[in-house]
Amino acid sequence: MLLVLAKRAKKAVFWGGNYFALPPSRCWLVWDKQNAVQTMADCEMAWTNLDANTKRISLPVGIHASGHPSEKPVRLMEWSIRTVRASGHVLDPFAGSGTTGVACARMGLQFTGIERERKYFDIACERIDNAYRQGQMFPSGPIHKQEQGELI
Ligand SMILES: C[S@@+](CC[C@H](N)C(=O)[O-])C[C@H]1O[C@@H](n2cnc3c(N)ncnc32)[C@H](O)[C@@H]1O
Repeated sequence: MLLVLAKRAKKAVFWGGNYFALPPSRCWLVWDKQNAVQTMADCEMAWTNLDANTKRISLPVGIHASGHPSEKPVRLMEWSIRTVRASGHVLDPFAGSGTTGVACARMGLQFTGIERERKYFDIACERIDNAYRQGQMFPSGPIHKQEQGELI
């Protein structure tokens, strides 16, 4: 499925892509985990199908408020979306607790998520509903000063 998406999606971003045999790419997104513990990887990487420069962001690993063991920070997903200049409609076929959907809601994008675990699907629906209810928080441009130099 990943390879199909990688070939067919206009813009594909796959966090944890360094653990899979994916085609060569010159554009990786690198999350430097500021507060990674010694027994964990210092960075996590997203494979993309873009012909662009590799980009990096330094962000702490947050508290997993949703209870999902690999919940990503919302800021990381916002940065990913902005960096690849995604627009319109975003699909996350491994939605987990819905962080990508929350980022899309905050950025005024449409979102479709797929999650096979009922527990996480329900958490994702609630988080995303709440985010859409709160409305668009960051309609355009970089949110955080530290990220301003990191756009493609
Ligand atoms: C790494 S987690 C995503 C975490 C998410 N980024 C977050 O912040 O919560 C991947 C998720 O994909 C789901 N998953 C794995 N295989 C799947 C499949 N074939 N169809 C739908 N969901 C799947 C797992 O249940 C898991 O919740």
